[in-house]
Amino acid sequence: MKIVVVAIDGPAGAGKSTIARRLADRLGFLYIDTGAMYRAVALWAVRQNVETTDHHRMEQLAIAAGIELEPGRIRLNGEDVTEAIRTAEVSNGASRIAVIPGVRRAMVAKQRELGERTSVVMEGRDIGTVVFPGAEVKIFLDAQPGERVRRRLRDVRAQGGTISEEDLAAQMNERDTRDSTRADAPLSQAPDAVYLDSTGLDIVQVEEAILKIVRGRVTNGKDFS
Ligand code: DC
Repeated sequence: MKIVVVAIDGPAGAGKSTIARRLADRLGFLYIDTGAMYRAVALWAVRQNVETTDHHRMEQLAIAAGIELEPGRIRLNGEDVTEAIRTAEVSNGASRIAVIPGVRRAMVAKQRELGERTSVVMEGRDIGTVVFPGAEVKIFLDAQPGERVRRRLRDVRAQGGTISEEDLAAQMNERDTRDSTRADAPLSQAPDAVYLDSTGLDIVQVEEAILKIVRGRVTNGKDFS
């Protein structure tokens, strides 16, 4: 059977993870959260006291990191770090180490290995541009900044976080600016990606819109549901 890659890129809080997970479920594909992989390396760096400015050591950590993705969980060197990678410190660290070309090389190699083995829905910042430029389906998922902050705030509060909307907006803005202006593989829409603005749409509407694109491109109209 043909291996299919559905690539979903976009800024923080656009709804990529929720949508990608649901799509993978519907399609029977593996869901790969590439941001979680950068986060795992950033967490390891924090624990090892490695400065994110030390490019050489950061690259070594990225190469050595044993990252395993299971549905909804991530393990780093055998330890379940699913919750530990969601702190503000790790979010910020992930965005900082993601500018390092050696770190990106190591992550991209791991991501390609996963997507060459089985059909995947892979989400991140550079999936359609760098990791799988030949992906069958490419979506650039966006939402207006205010909406992205509100969605992220809801997630953070649901996990017991107490950050103010203002502070969260500042953090997300700093991260998005760094992610889209770095020299190596910045967040950008692939020329052949479909742009989708999810502002004002609910999850089911976004999911249906993407499934329609997948069906059109991959299955010649065959229904996956
Ligand atoms: O998707 P996320 O917010 O969990 O990602 C965390 C950071 O990792 C994000 O700020 C940028 C970086 N990242 C990246 O550079 N390339 C990817 N494919 C995925 C994430």
